[in-house]
Amino acid sequence: MSFRIRPYNNADHNIVYDICLKTGDSGQDATAQFEDPKLIGHIYAGPYINLEPESAFILEHDTGVCGYIIGALDSQSFFRKIKSKWLPNLKNQYIYPDEFPTFQTKDEELIHLFYHPELPEVLPDYPSHLHINILPLAQGQGMGKKLMDHFINYIKKNGSKGFHLGLSIRNKRAFQFYKKYGMHKLKQDSETIIMGISFG
Ligand SMILES: CC(C)(COP(=O)(O)OP(=O)(O)OC[C@H]1O[C@@H](n2cnc3c(N)ncnc32)[C@H](O)[C@@H]1OP(=O)(O)O)[C@@H](O)C(=O)NCCC(=O)NCCS
Repeated sequence: MSFRIRPYNNADHNIVYDICLKTGDSGQDATAQFEDPKLIGHIYAGPYINLEPESAFILEHDTGVCGYIIGALDSQSFFRKIKSKWLPNLKNQYIYPDEFPTFQTKDEELIHLFYHPELPEVLPDYPSHLHINILPLAQGQGMGKKLMDHFINYIKKNGSKGFHLGLSIRNKRAFQFYKKYGMHKLKQDSETIIMGISFG
């Protein structure tokens, strides 16, 4: 199979959302978890491809798009943009009743995040961050490594001092992949591991 990596363009919007869903349960297909298939993309893909599309890259093979790497050069200023430019539209579309006692569904859990977004990590030596998602047909063929190399060249050229990412503690495959790539663990709680590489 021959692959190529190219910049994101607007025509990729829906397929990026789709890949996000199909790999969104700690690397596995999350489709069955959500009634609204767009919710997970609204958190983990939409802000990147809409607010910082120049930092988004697509993995393509002969039959179409099969993965992506997306991120933000400066995580702190990106988060401010999410709050001012991305979440207001979502809050208009998705009403979150204050009286939700606890989340009954995964949909509610993500809608809650539109109203109470997770604060970004403050990691001055690792200011950029990324998300990488590849469909099963293209996994295990070295393309994850190539996408990471591509993204890192791009952020270095743009002056970044390093990057971090978060992954579910259940995503053992991704953890091994990032470790092999040379990333180290910066933080961990009961659900999430934060890993990073600093170029300094
Ligand atoms: C995790 C993911 C990005 C890895 O990409 P990939 O293309 O499958 O991995 P690669 O083929 O590029 O592997 C690169 C190296 O990591 C190693 N590696 C990959 N998975 C591994 C594992 N489970 N255990 C040990 N090493 C592993 C490979 O052996 C390879 O080493 P080599 O260069 O010495 O051969 C990809 O599988 C994916 O997108 N999964 C679904 C979505 C996901 O979980 N994203 C991460 C969310 S945080």
